[in-house]
Amino acid sequence: MCGIVGATGRPDVAELLVEGLERLEYRGYDSAGIVLAVEGALWRTRAADGTRSVAALRELVGSAPGPAVTGIGHTRWATHGAPSVENAHPLYDCFGRVAVVHNGIIENHAEIQSSLERSGHAMVSATDTEVIAHLVEDKMATGLPLAEAVRHALLVVRGSFAVAVVSVEEPELLVAARRNTPLVLGRSDGASLLASDIPALLGRTEQLFVLADDQVAELRPGSIRVTSLAGAELDPPALSVDWDLAAAQKGGFEDFMSKEMREQPRAVADTLLDRWTPDGSLTLDELCMTEDELAQLTRVYLVACGSSYHAGLVAKFAIEQWAAIPAEVEIASEFRYRNPVLDPKALAVGVSQSGESLDTLLALREARARGARVLGVTNVVDSSIAREADAVLYTRAGPEICVAATKTLLAQIVALELLALTLAQVRKTRSASEIAAAVDALTRLPAGIDEVLARAKEVDQVAESLAGASDFFYLGRNLGYPVALEGALKLKELSYLHAEGYPAGELKHGPIALIEPGTVVVGIATRNPLWEKFQSNVQEVRSRGATVVLVANDGDEAAAALADHVLWVPESDPLLAPVLDIVPLQLFAYRLARLRNLDVDRPRNLAKTVTVE
Ligand code: AGP
Repeated sequence: MCGIVGATGRPDVAELLVEGLERLEYRGYDSAGIVLAVEGALWRTRAADGTRSVAALRELVGSAPGPAVTGIGHTRWATHGAPSVENAHPLYDCFGRVAVVHNGIIENHAEIQSSLERSGHAMVSATDTEVIAHLVEDKMATGLPLAEAVRHALLVVRGSFAVAVVSVEEPELLVAARRNTPLVLGRSDGASLLASDIPALLGRTEQLFVLADDQVAELRPGSIRVTSLAGAELDPPALSVDWDLAAAQKGGFEDFMSKEMREQPRAVADTLLDRWTPDGSLTLDELCMTEDELAQLTRVYLVACGSSYHAGLVAKFAIEQWAAIPAEVEIASEFRYRNPVLDPKALAVGVSQSGESLDTLLALREARARGARVLGVTNVVDSSIAREADAVLYTRAGPEICVAATKTLLAQIVALELLALTLAQVRKTRSASEIAAAVDALTRLPAGIDEVLARAKEVDQVAESLAGASDFFYLGRNLGYPVALEGALKLKELSYLHAEGYPAGELKHGPIALIEPGTVVVGIATRNPLWEKFQSNVQEVRSRGATVVLVANDGDEAAAALADHVLWVPESDPLLAPVLDIVPLQLFAYRLARLRNLDVDRPRNLAKTVTVE
């Protein structure tokens, strides 16, 4: 996600901003920029050179026209609008007298933009953020001072934001605000600072404060005033932090995987944002296909690797059950060479968090060469798959540093479920009320994920009790099978223990010969159409001495009676259950890897992006 820095009262403000952005680079970004308040004007410099953009800024700020004590800076992780200098923050109002940096997603930016353009404003970027600068300009034109103008402007905005605003009218004032996206403030003698995240402020301030949702801060040299969005005075508690820089970049977590697992509720919520209307109907214009083209599709091919392939397996159920279209899920490196028979009524969906897995990229090229339309589902704006696809449905999980996919996988599943619902809506295979009910169930997933994460200690205890095991089977049926595959993959790639994901109904056709006392069987026993049959499969392995761990729905005593250990999850619609069921298996694999003192963020032999065949 984007990184924000700001400072006032510091004669070395340019250097401070660049260094603050350098400390936020780990968050991932594709462009960067800085604005300084210099000699009664705003001076801006920006670069869109991928992860070299901040280094470019270090050169560029040397050409500032004079000394400055106030400024804001930004590293952009593109969500709306391609990575380019024009879309790089800070963004201006019409006259270059107000500058804004923003992290988050403005849900209603399109309607705000239309209203602004009708009143004569001209947007110059393809971002959602720019509307804030023009809203503030409008409010200041009525005579409001900057802080009031920002408060009024943000009352219009829906969605998530961490913003910092500077204006030539009050050149030593920074105004900041946040909703659902972090923003921290710092104060020292004669200076005040702000940043998206603590690393940028470490060692720079005597006091740290965390702004809460819908709070507005006015930063002046050495003083910070905090109010509600309505303007009521507030007194935020100071934050005491004894982290070093590395710990701060992990948000205080021991590793990126822990941080990213706990970002999963936000990743799912952001991926769902502004993709349906208040009446629950889908608005996936991003598919770039007419309703008629969508209605005429005869088959969907979900092409991917690794965890992304597992997301495709879940999506197959949703697409076939909601939209009644045949859906094939293909391992990308196999699909490409099997001489697939495709036509223009086939939709090839490339699922790839990096958007760079060469197997998936080449498989999509093959699909296009054979006449299929190509849709990319990826987490990285302007990635190779995003650039080559006919359309892109972005997940909005923010950068994922850990090699093991967690938040990007859950975001992929919900993005694909939205695709399935859109197809059902267009093909009228589900009623509007059924679709609205499914959308409502999707919106409840972040809370369900939070609930499962809150039970991490219980999962740790189960993992600790099995620390000596060396042979794991993950079993599932129906929607539990992709979950079993993903759970096994997590254990393999994090702990280097051998684990096999298997369809439970298939075990008796051979692999059950491997089951013996000491074998650990992890079963996905949450409610799905084959839950009863799955219980018999569990009996089969229990009777051969396996140690049974079941992922089961809260209160399912029948499942508990079959298990040595239970990993409880809240009940949800079976088509959405994998989003919750995968989480305890992430925690389980994580704990076993930590017990073996392994590096969970950088497992041996693995790369975050596999750009070789
Ligand atoms: C999953 O934890 C692994 N990191 C790996 O299997 C990954 O899912 C696979 O390489 C696909 O990556 P992609 O989503 O970037 O294409």
